[in-house]
Amino acid sequence: MDHPSLSRARLLQKISEKFPTPGQRLRDPLGGFGYELPEAEDLVWREIPSDGANNWMLGGPNPSYQFNLHNANNNLIVVAANNTCHGQIFIRGSNNTAILIGPEVGNHPVNVQFHHSDHLFYFGRGCTSNTATFAMGGDGTSIIVGEDCMFSAFVDVMTDDLHGIIDMKNGAHLNTGASILFEPHVWAGLSTMFLKGITVGFGSIVGAKSVVTRDVERMSSVAGTPAVTVRRDVSWTRERIPNPGAHPWVRQWAENFAATERERTHEG
Ligand SMILES: CC(C)(COP(=O)(O)OP(=O)(O)OC[C@H]1O[C@@H](n2cnc3c(N)ncnc32)[C@H](O)[C@@H]1OP(=O)(O)O)[C@@H](O)C(=O)NCCC(=O)NCCS
Repeated sequence: MDHPSLSRARLLQKISEKFPTPGQRLRDPLGGFGYELPEAEDLVWREIPSDGANNWMLGGPNPSYQFNLHNANNNLIVVAANNTCHGQIFIRGSNNTAILIGPEVGNHPVNVQFHHSDHLFYFGRGCTSNTATFAMGGDGTSIIVGEDCMFSAFVDVMTDDLHGIIDMKNGAHLNTGASILFEPHVWAGLSTMFLKGITVGFGSIVGAKSVVTRDVERMSSVAGTPAVTVRRDVSWTRERIPNPGAHPWVRQWAENFAATERERTHEG
């Protein structure tokens, strides 16, 4: 078992040891601007009851999550102390998965499902959901959600189709799973669906009932099936009528985010 006083640096190190490449086709933003890690010092370890072995939660004094683990081993769930989200976490037959839920996460359930192994789910500071399901399938796929994303009702995010498509010329597997990244401050409208291998750009808006199959540009709105761009250079605010401070604030945040990303990509 890990030492209970796991520090933030140690947490990062542990995650990187466990996931040397955190998901296919996904750059690793964890710990960077917009992807803050929970303060591990404030949290306590609990063993999660299951029929498997070595399943642990590192969380606050009153965890609001329900767990359902079956035939699952070596899983780690980290839930920051300060959040009010009532979620359900299903881990079925999965090994070596990890979940990180940031502070100030609110509203209604976040359902997380792990179908295979070596997954990582991260839900950043201040994200909200009104019943969203995040399902990971295909070994090594991850879902990373940057801070302040807003998921409406009946949102589905899935890194794998869960059944194989075969090329009848040569038997090749055509629909392999791939990770999904939500950059910070994304609004996913009612009944939206996000499919494997996409990045949803900072500040973007996804219209009701859209099925997103390709990357979404930063500060754009997309809609339809498959989703296409309907506006550029737009973003959103949680108030129904944007307050006058919202526009410069989101603009500044977007610029800071883009600058940090350029720096990080350059460094990498
Ligand atoms: C995506 C959305 C936010 C865009 O609003 P908007 O910027 O005012 O967009 P408009 O109504 O001007 O529509 C722009 C174009 O996109 C199309 N469009 C908008 N929303 C669409 C949707 N959900 N699906 C398909 N097409 C859509 C419009 O038909 C229009 O196409 P056109 O230019 O060919 O006529 C909005 O249409 C939407 O989906 N709202 C629902 C939000 C929601 O789920 N709220 C729940 C609470 S979180």
